[in-house]
Amino acid sequence: MTANEIRQKYLEFFKKKGHTIIPSAPLLPENDPTVLFTTAGMHPLVPYLLGEPHPGGKRLANHQKCIRTGDIDEVGDNTHLTFFEMMGNWSLGDYFKKEAIAMSFEFLTDKKWLNIPLEKLAVSVFEGDDDAPRDEESAGIWKKLGIPEHKIAYLPKKANWWGPAGQTGPCGPDTEMFYWVGSGNPPVSSNPGDDEENWVEIWNDVFMQYNKTEDGKFEPLNQTNVDTGLGLERVAAVLQGKKTVYDTELFQPIIEKISALTKIPYPEAEKSYRIIVDHLRAATFMAADGVKPSNLDQGYVMRRLLRRAIRHGKLLEIDDNFTHVIAKKIIHLMSDIYPELKHEEVILQIFQLEEEQFRKTINHGLKEFEKLLTGFQMAFEKTGKRMTEISGKQAFKLYDTYGFPIEMTEEEAKKHGLTVDKKGFDEAFKKHQELSRAGAEEKFKGGLQDNSEATTRLHTATHLLHAGLKKVLGDHVKQSGSNITAERLRFDFSHPDKMTKEQLEAVEKYVNEAIRSDAEVKCETMSVEEAKKKGAIGLFESKYGEKVKMYDMSPWSKEICGGPHVKRLGELGKFKIKKEQSSSAGIRRIKAVLINE
Ligand code: ALA
Repeated sequence: MTANEIRQKYLEFFKKKGHTIIPSAPLLPENDPTVLFTTAGMHPLVPYLLGEPHPGGKRLANHQKCIRTGDIDEVGDNTHLTFFEMMGNWSLGDYFKKEAIAMSFEFLTDKKWLNIPLEKLAVSVFEGDDDAPRDEESAGIWKKLGIPEHKIAYLPKKANWWGPAGQTGPCGPDTEMFYWVGSGNPPVSSNPGDDEENWVEIWNDVFMQYNKTEDGKFEPLNQTNVDTGLGLERVAAVLQGKKTVYDTELFQPIIEKISALTKIPYPEAEKSYRIIVDHLRAATFMAADGVKPSNLDQGYVMRRLLRRAIRHGKLLEIDDNFTHVIAKKIIHLMSDIYPELKHEEVILQIFQLEEEQFRKTINHGLKEFEKLLTGFQMAFEKTGKRMTEISGKQAFKLYDTYGFPIEMTEEEAKKHGLTVDKKGFDEAFKKHQELSRAGAEEKFKGGLQDNSEATTRLHTATHLLHAGLKKVLGDHVKQSGSNITAERLRFDFSHPDKMTKEQLEAVEKYVNEAIRSDAEVKCETMSVEEAKKKGAIGLFESKYGEKVKMYDMSPWSKEICGGPHVKRLGELGKFKIKKEQSSSAGIRRIKAVLINE
């Protein structure tokens, strides 16, 4: 069964069971700065799991593109991926354990659906601890459906608990379904508790009935939810009897494309091939959702993925720019399912630019490396003592000053019979990271780093602009970035088209009317739920339970924000939009100033 068929069947099945099919959400969480990427289908649904009504009703299902970078260094083995698709169904306070498990069972085993023989399946349930009881209820439901007692493993929180997606939020015990990939049928007494290798997890039903609070407590939620996730790539692999996801039709055409560019065949360099395929899939989808390689946040992750893929391309002796060729293949394979990939030109251009730049960096780094070698040689001639190790400091300088990846320093060193003091490098790297983390934390406090009067005024103007854009263009407008200096504000937001002159004027008018009204800027502290109830917009939606500041500039704007802001809107002067341009696919950028009158 192909991945396409599995995707279709899943949605059809849950539609038949009364679920509304919702679209795959963007990879960039829209209102949650606590995580960089959407990591699971439940992630965009957090407010609804906490009780807010969803426009699609109480039963939802979809296929969700996800990024998880926690295991990035494991990519290349049989199973780890940074980008993957998750099929999911949700009950928002509607059905619970009995129905959820029965539906999973039917979809997996019924002839009409996946038709998996019962002997190949096993499950696990939560064994219980101080936070929640042993899940005998789920075990009982599985038994009634025909799963024998010895195929049910009781496992601890580490294995059978899911969430929250960030530090706090909805979570709960789960029951997981496993497929036997060992030879023949599994031994009678074998279950996922004792044979992790041959039992592959394919689906997870989470019973989200708790909210994890800031102080680590698990409070019962008002509604009991179900959140499930079925790994599409994995299910395709096991149903096709393939040893790894890379052997399925989701990856094979991309692998073939790479092999056409190198003389080194796939079986000889499996790991490099796989890293290229995985990382470029992730980067292609990131680009489609408006990320660009940079040294910050999502852009940094994307840069790391692209550069790692390019480095492995070099190991495959691919010396021309190639990432855009592979991205094109990925786009053609998947754009029917993910229409956002249709911004092909923009995506390919991003890849080409980054690769060109990185190849220059590499060449520059190689020259610096040569200089090191010359230094070593000169020292030898002078002292008669041969240096055999590149110090941590030297390796870090190559990395930090010239952008030369440590892996390449190691590879080059090896070629010349040298070692690298990796420990010393790691120490220098850690020190550097601590410094930049301190900077990042400052940023996430949500306030302005520069609290000068000029930036504060522009910050207030940014709130009015955000509200004005929503009013003029519609509710789809969402902030995707903001940068303020003492001279100007820059605001990125989702909107598909170039703004017309009339629209720009209408937005300017909105902001200037607000300024002229000289309304008072009030700041109140409340929970996110309250702020949302009061109609506030803002970026901090999923930090539930936490108190936030809401800046109220009624009737013009209400927004959750760390501040600071001016006291009265009249302090702003006159607002003028200087530029409206594309920032990336689907994202527009406005630069604007305040003129003192
Ligand atoms: N959110 C659950 C998971 O990712 C379903 O496994």
